[in-house]
Amino acid sequence: MKVLVIGQGGREHAVAWKLMQSEKVEKVYVCPGNGGTAKEQDIENIDLSPADTPSLIDFANRENIDLTIVGPEAPLVDGIVDEFNKHNLKIFGPSKKYALLEGSKVFSKEFMKHFDIPTADYQMFSSGNEAKNFIEDKQHPIVIKADGLAAGKGVVVSQNKNQSFEAIDELLASNHSNHIVIEEFLSGQELSAIYVCNFKGCSYEIALPWTKDYKSRDEYNSGPNTGGMGAISHPLGYEHKNSIFKLHIDIEKIMIKTITGINNYNKNLNNGYLGFLYIGLMIDNKNNIKVLEYNCRLGDPETQNLMLTLENKNIDLLDLIINQPISSIKDINLDKIEDVDDSFCCTIVLAAIGYPGEYKKGFYIDHSDVIENNNLKIFHAGTTLKNNKFQSTGGRILTVNAYSDTKENALAAAYRNIKKIKIYEDADMKVQNQDLVFYREDIGN
Ligand code: AMP
Ligand code: GLY
Repeated sequence: MKVLVIGQGGREHAVAWKLMQSEKVEKVYVCPGNGGTAKEQDIENIDLSPADTPSLIDFANRENIDLTIVGPEAPLVDGIVDEFNKHNLKIFGPSKKYALLEGSKVFSKEFMKHFDIPTADYQMFSSGNEAKNFIEDKQHPIVIKADGLAAGKGVVVSQNKNQSFEAIDELLASNHSNHIVIEEFLSGQELSAIYVCNFKGCSYEIALPWTKDYKSRDEYNSGPNTGGMGAISHPLGYEHKNSIFKLHIDIEKIMIKTITGINNYNKNLNNGYLGFLYIGLMIDNKNNIKVLEYNCRLGDPETQNLMLTLENKNIDLLDLIINQPISSIKDINLDKIEDVDDSFCCTIVLAAIGYPGEYKKGFYIDHSDVIENNNLKIFHAGTTLKNNKFQSTGGRILTVNAYSDTKENALAAAYRNIKKIKIYEDADMKVQNQDLVFYREDIGN
């Protein structure tokens, strides 16, 4: 097969790399890709924007692409799947009406209320004054969200009234949305439950291992919110089997209500939800679960963690997506996914100093001292390959991913190796400056 992956982050590097491990795959194209995908064998970057659907369709037709996988949310929310379908091109992702689960916070909150899916209490507003009146006597922290996609800048966890007023003005003035959602602050453990809703239909959605994303920039969940500074697999520990069992059932119920709800909502369409479905959850200290958000795609950096885990469990991503030539879902050894005895994966993001605010770019990265293999893999995000050297282009530069039999070994391997990465100010790689980058020291806690 020839597969096209749309996107340029660490998630897309991980998906493209994992696809290339499949004996069914001959070639992977990534649009536009990054320095890491440029360097991989049998993966080719194509300089097309993920927003340029007509050119992507031309490319897929010209190159006889068998399957397209969409990484980021924006093309999905804009309807890339509907357009590919019109041209009879096979594409994995939800169509526009389904992608609303992520594309509109107002829609997703109303959806959850309607289908009795537990989520934070909320109110929505289109008037700044009404929103401010509402906030006036509310306890803080409180959470304010833009309705539409905002490239990670649409959620403010506000600590006081002034900050809330500022956020209300900013989010309503931005071009992301005419509405905002104000919701109750939830505390607890975050968990990313990601499903593959594949071409066989939604009675076959497959749960990938739970992961936990470390959202805030600094140690011990302090500092501003980011796209994610690291991830670990099996975050809840397995020492309390009863709690885990309860969580499995409760999360499964949420997933089933979500899938049946969204399919029911779109029942005039002739197909159900197709693609990855990411349910962002908060679990409080009594093990009560609420949905924080839906994403209609894989998470970043959760995907980097998941792809290394699937590889070590010998599971082909294409089997999960297409389920062919496997005749029954039972033929995929899904028990292996859940088998936690020999499995732990740790992901650490190396970021440019200043991220998630303004950050420096254009410096050089040398990770040749890191010996990569199937237990240890670097996935690039904000890099480009220039004269065979990696140059930084983004805030999240790369992730170091380590897989091992124990949590301690995986964490130790990831931290040991991230320390081997050298950063240079100049293309000649003579002026070393490690202060240009940072990473969180507490991933796994
Ligand atoms: P969202 O895009 O809705 O997932 O929000 C991004 C991040 O903001 C989440 O992953 C949480 O870390 C945080 N967040 C969102 N909603 C809440 C909430 N109601 N209470 C606490 N934190 C939240
Ligand atoms: N890591 C969070 C996200 O992908 O939305």
